[in-house]
Amino acid sequence: MGRAFVYVILGGGVAAGYAALEFTNRGVSPGELCIISEEPAAPYERPALSKGYLLPESPARLPAFHTCVGANEERLTPKWYKEHGIELVLGTRVKSADMRRKTLLTATGETISYKILIIATGARALKLEEFGLSGSDAENVCYLRDLADANRLVNVMQSCAGGNAVVIGGGYIGMECAASLVINRINVTMVFPEAHCMARLFTPKIASYYEDYYKSKGVNFIKGTVLSSFDMDSNGKVVAVNLRDGSRLPADMVVVGIGIRPNTSLFEGQLTLEKGGIKVNGRLQSSNSSVYAVGDVAAFPLKLFGETRRLEHVDSARKSAKHAVAAIMEPDKTGEFDYLPFFYSRVFALSWQFYGDTAGEVIHYGDFSGTTFGAYWVNKGHLVGAFLEGGTKEEYEAVAKATRLKPPVEDLAELERQGLGFALAV
Ligand code: FDA
Ligand code: NAD
Repeated sequence: MGRAFVYVILGGGVAAGYAALEFTNRGVSPGELCIISEEPAAPYERPALSKGYLLPESPARLPAFHTCVGANEERLTPKWYKEHGIELVLGTRVKSADMRRKTLLTATGETISYKILIIATGARALKLEEFGLSGSDAENVCYLRDLADANRLVNVMQSCAGGNAVVIGGGYIGMECAASLVINRINVTMVFPEAHCMARLFTPKIASYYEDYYKSKGVNFIKGTVLSSFDMDSNGKVVAVNLRDGSRLPADMVVVGIGIRPNTSLFEGQLTLEKGGIKVNGRLQSSNSSVYAVGDVAAFPLKLFGETRRLEHVDSARKSAKHAVAAIMEPDKTGEFDYLPFFYSRVFALSWQFYGDTAGEVIHYGDFSGTTFGAYWVNKGHLVGAFLEGGTKEEYEAVAKATRLKPPVEDLAELERQGLGFALAV
């Protein structure tokens, strides 16, 4: 049994949805494009799962957040794919890929062949077991990567209103889920090994602002230690979390956000890998010229900083997907992907954006006792990164533009004095 397509997108997440829109904008013919996804839903904006989806009142639900609403573009419902002659193969895992034969074998036993393949398999959440711990299968231990995880989290959350949650991990999932749990009236303790939250991005000063804000909402922080084991009841439900520092936290539920691994296993030995992902060139093309990779799984040349990077954020998934389709459909008119890294988050009434890189020295600006403040990173005499909390649209645009231009900075004290004014004047 088999089907053949000109273009196949393997994976049906954020990048797949944005790629599909770009294919239709550039004139793909009905029957030429197929998307295969393990998830049962058509591509959707994954960021909604840790935000609107977890709200106690009027929570976001599909079809409201199918791609590409997150970038104010068309909302691609299953009907849209049908109308555009795009084959959506949902709820179907690809279990092996043969890059030489240009075929994919699904778990249902179908062989799907392609002329051009776009790999958009994203990433999976790391499990506690990968750190030598156990208990991920307990009914009140939650991860958050896909819709099924989000539904499970909502159910568990609703079953322990007023109870205690332990959040393991102080990264994006930890911070966003902790905020959502508090909004659902659950008492939250966050546990992570670093000295402060969001250690991959925040400076100690920025982290301290967020931790104080979270504490004002009742969140308890236990830093510099990790989980050692769970205490379970006779039904296999976690009742307490034991930490390596010897403390024991009673728990009605646990949320784990300890990082991800890109889904590359199908391609090992067939494509060149780098930085945990699939190495691609400035056209998002892998070491096999018929195969492209986009989104969380792609390690691409970041022209602005002269390095190969793999990013785990929605904006790069959207833009790399669009660029790969442009490179496939109009190779002569498409240059190298020239991307400015952009990350953001929204928790409680807070909202920040970050552009660029966190290399070099950092200076802070603005009012850390108020609502608008930020930081600049300066490397080798140039502005390379900018963080802003509580900015206006114009201010965010200004820090983005300034970071893109990498202006020279001779005097850090002067940059600190000018603060946001520096970016607004660039
Ligand atoms: P994505 O993970 O979206 O999609 C991969 C797809 O491939 C999935 O549908 C998967 O099932 C499928 N797949 C994998 N292997 C397969 C196989 N063998 N066969 C078939 N299908 C397969 N970023 C940000 O910038 N701001 C934010 O606020 C957030 N918020 C956020 C919240 C939550 C809860 C998560 C989990 C993530 C975020 N992110 C984020 C990160 C952002 O969502 C992420 O970078 C993008 O979803 C990446 O898009 P991809 O398409 O690469 O992978
Ligand atoms: P992360 O990399 O942001 O954070 C992982 C955290 O795990 C670290 O901060 C650390 O505190 C913790 N950790 C590591 N080892 C640990 C251990 N042994 N015990 C306890 N804690 C440990 O990853 P995440 O928070 O799991 O997020 C998953 C993915 O989802 C990431 O790719 C992230 O970019 C993405 N995401 C992004 C956003 C956003 O951009 N706003 C929001 C949600 C999720």
